[in-house]
Amino acid sequence: MMTREMTWMGFLATVLIAVVLAIAAAREPDRQQQAAIDLRIESVIAGINLYAENCAVCHGAAGEGLGTTPALNNDGLRAMDAETIAKTIARGRYGTVMAAYNVDEGGVFTNAEIDQLVSVIQDANWKAVAARVDALGLTPPEAATVELTEETLASVRSLPDGETLANGLQIYATECAACHGANAEGTNIAPVLNSADLRATSTDDDLARIIAQGVPGTLMAGWSRTLTSEEIAEVVMLIQRWPELESAGVGIPVIEAAPVDMSPEAIALGARLFSLACAQCHGAQSYGTPMAPALNNQTFLEATSDAAIGQIIAGGVPGTVMPAWGGRLSEADIAALTAFLRSLETTAPAIARP
Ligand code: HEC
Ligand code: HEC
Ligand code: HEC
Repeated sequence: MMTREMTWMGFLATVLIAVVLAIAAAREPDRQQQAAIDLRIESVIAGINLYAENCAVCHGAAGEGLGTTPALNNDGLRAMDAETIAKTIARGRYGTVMAAYNVDEGGVFTNAEIDQLVSVIQDANWKAVAARVDALGLTPPEAATVELTEETLASVRSLPDGETLANGLQIYATECAACHGANAEGTNIAPVLNSADLRATSTDDDLARIIAQGVPGTLMAGWSRTLTSEEIAEVVMLIQRWPELESAGVGIPVIEAAPVDMSPEAIALGARLFSLACAQCHGAQSYGTPMAPALNNQTFLEATSDAAIGQIIAGGVPGTVMPAWGGRLSEADIAALTAFLRSLETTAPAIARP
């Protein structure tokens, strides 16, 4: 363990010194500057572990950005004033899943730790960061996608404006079906969208507005950050013309909700994912932190079905910092997380510890 750690530190130090020295060489380093450089290297080394444990899950092992989360490995951020970046990390971005990380803002990091994270963003070699994230076993899993069969898409394409409808259906299958049902029939957590009523009372503009802006305080998030207005228009056309799909015999197989696998392997995977993606907010063993409520208590676990836990994890809670994990974690990962949380029920305290 120790040797592996030291090997890595050696490798990292070499890469970093090369990078940071390259910056400094141009400025004829004197003794004082050398000390400043050493400090920056130390800062990066300390920051990389914080990055691996708290940021890689959204921003990627090499800072490349995942899904709709922006990349951090770019010249724009390297050139930016360090203070500005520190502020973003400290205060988060209101109304997005980018949480406020400073202890003063209800987060978990001191100012010094935030400065270390800024050093990573501005000075680190991202290959070294990715290697460290990988060594810690924290490389985020591949994003999950829903695939429609070619046959289904072909029958949709044969309808008038079929190409647009098919695009809309692909977006729907990936982003909306989990809540609104495979065939827009609605589920216990989201209303039916294949409805004569909805079509009669909503114009295209009404639907586009709801989809773009969401319904605050409900699980219906606004999609304007994720989907272009053209893509939203495609989904709107799909919602308006769903009966034609039905007449053409297009049916999307409903994914049966299998009972959650409670095997020791599934629970162990869930525990590992939890410490990777959730513990920084919900706390170790999910006893809660100032950033997020405890999940490890009878009140929550008794009131919330496995399906509901899975949906909350996949969809997040809009208007709060609870991220939507559906695009980042596979169904199996979400089921494993559900199994892990369920496994706590036997020993969970009756109510959340303060
Ligand atoms: C749950 C996902 C998530 C996590 C975890 C996360 N971020 Fe972010 N971060 C985002 C999103 C989404 C944005 C873009 C917000 C916006 O649209 O303004 C963002 C934006 C940023 C930005 C601004 C980027 C820019 O180009 O302006 C910085 C810097 C940043 N994050 C750093 C971090 C650091 C450091 C950590 C770890 C302590 C972290 N983030 C953890 C999702 C996340
Ligand atoms: C996490 C679950 C979830 C996801 C994912 C989701 N929705 Fe919703 N949606 C809801 C809920 C809940 C409501 C009801 C909100 C309310 O109470 O007004 C809703 C409402 C709607 C409405 C208004 C329906 C009405 O009867 O007024 C439309 C339109 C809609 N969603 C479209 C979409 C589209 C298109 C997508 C995919 C891009 C999508 N939704 C993804 C949960 C979701
Ligand atoms: C950036 C911080 C953050 C991260 C990371 C995070 N959560 Fe959350 N989570 C929250 C907040 C805040 C809430 C409360 C939202 C609200 O006010 O309803 C929450 C709520 C929840 C709830 C619903 C609790 C309830 O009482 O209804 C579940 C379940 C949950 N989170 C699971 C997870 C899982 C599993 C992960 C990891 C995959 C995770 N969370 C990662 C912040 C976070």
